[in-house]
Amino acid sequence: MQLDASNLRRQISALTAWWEGAGVDIDQRQIDRMLQALQSNQTPETPTTAPAAEAPKLKSSKGIAQAKAFAERATTLETLRDAILQFDGCELKEGANKTVFADGVADADVMVIGEGPGRDEDREGLPFVGRAGQLLDRMLAAIGLSRTENTYITNVNFWRPPGNRNPTENELALCRPFVDKHIALIKPKLIIVAGAVPAQSLLGATQGITRLRGQKFDLSIAGMEKAIPVYPIFHPAYLLRRPAEKAKAWADLLNILAALEALGCAPDKRP
Ligand code: URA
Repeated sequence: MQLDASNLRRQISALTAWWEGAGVDIDQRQIDRMLQALQSNQTPETPTTAPAAEAPKLKSSKGIAQAKAFAERATTLETLRDAILQFDGCELKEGANKTVFADGVADADVMVIGEGPGRDEDREGLPFVGRAGQLLDRMLAAIGLSRTENTYITNVNFWRPPGNRNPTENELALCRPFVDKHIALIKPKLIIVAGAVPAQSLLGATQGITRLRGQKFDLSIAGMEKAIPVYPIFHPAYLLRRPAEKAKAWADLLNILAALEALGCAPDKRP
């Protein structure tokens, strides 16, 4: 059967536009190959989905030791940022446009930690600036938090992975010394982790976010006197795809607000 090429291309374009909107890199050459194969009734030679993630590399103990040494020397946010900029031990950096360090208020009581930069963050060099970031801002505002007044925002990984795949265990391990130092420098009273990747990475948990959300965990960080309470929440990108879950996210935010009140650091502008 001969397929109508222009109709097919239109349908494929609509689908790929949707994926691009969600932050996935689309390789136009793969689309062309798929189209050709469909027209000649063949199986495409290469996968037609978004580019596959590279196989995770083995844990690089040398890279981790170097990351630890770099992070240890940092004594301020500026020197930590410089250390991350100078660190070349994580291959993700080679494919990224920008190193995404942080945004927000340095003496904030609340620190939000996400997974890592997506397409928009990689372009702008700031965390959570795309659609998911805008939803995160609205969620925080609902309990009186904002990155311009009382909240600090960063990620567990500083470079956008190719095709927006999740960072591997090794990539997270390479970033971890910097993340720990980041927390020690900000000294937050409470940490919100957005999504399964930062929740599992920071807490060493294996459950999914559906299990982790709604609970409080304690995180001990070298250089900090007390363990910090950590509250996992659904990632805002997930909530954009599953708006029905927003009710649970709202319950989590109210729980976080109550925890801030109990800690004596509730935001001034409460809803
Ligand atoms: N998602 C994240 O987890 N972090 C960002 O900075 C942007 C999107």
